[in-house]
Amino acid sequence: MTPVLETRGLSKRFGGVVAVDGLSLTVGQGEIRGLIGPNGSGKTTTVNLLSGLYRADAGEIVVRGERTERLRPHEIAARGVGRTFQVPKLFGNMTVLENVLVPALAAIDRGTERPLPEVLERAGHLLEFVTLQPLRDALAKELSGGQAMLAQIARAFMVRPLHLLLMDEPFAGVHPTIRAVIIESVLRMNREEGVTALVVSHEMPELRRLCSRVSVMHEGTLIAEGTLDEVANDARVLEAYLGR
Ligand SMILES: Nc1ncnc2c1ncn2[C@@H]1O[C@H](COP(=O)(O)OP(=O)(O)O)[C@@H](O)[C@H]1O
Ligand SMILES: [Mg+2]
Repeated sequence: MTPVLETRGLSKRFGGVVAVDGLSLTVGQGEIRGLIGPNGSGKTTTVNLLSGLYRADAGEIVVRGERTERLRPHEIAARGVGRTFQVPKLFGNMTVLENVLVPALAAIDRGTERPLPEVLERAGHLLEFVTLQPLRDALAKELSGGQAMLAQIARAFMVRPLHLLLMDEPFAGVHPTIRAVIIESVLRMNREEGVTALVVSHEMPELRRLCSRVSVMHEGTLIAEGTLDEVANDARVLEAYLGR
């Protein structure tokens, strides 16, 4: 089966810093893959390349068989790639519901919109799902960090059809109750709608519940892949984390 995501030789430098250095990564259909690695290993840069926020200096990104490394963020979203940001990016002076409706508005611009009643029903359902229904009319700037993460997740799920969800540190600084909601939401979307996910995180208990396999980055490249237990015992991984 064609992988949902494949990168080959993906590279990005910032001045003298090579943030991503020839990364080749493959994520199969229906997988929830963890992406781990020490601070500064290039995880966020990778997510920014995959979502089109950064332009790669070299290499290829293939989403469901289509090259995307030259596309802009909205063109990548239109191909079914949604994302969340570590520091939530929402329109602060818009309500939670309005933020969640943004992907549906973008679809109008592309001429691929769905009927309004269906869009509103889906948004209501997703807000329910991430426990934000009581806050649907609150302004996004009034949300806690964890609630804002949930709103970003509901917004990503409004991308239709969503094929690949990219999450950058969704659990960082988030209360355990909300962590559980995040895990349940991703597992459910994976089960019910076949959404594939790439989750950048350091939180081992959460990754264990979400992912069967993780990929480990160090200095911009992939140094190991396997179950959490496998990579935790990998000599190169230990070396990368201990900084020897
Ligand atoms: N916008 C940027 N400008 C300059 N350097 C950056 C930028 N983004 C990341 N870097 C550098 O690239 C490297 C990888 O960073 P990053 O992708 O944020 O790592 P991680 O998410 O794994 O902690 C680091 O050395 C970081 O300082
Ligand atoms: Mg990061």
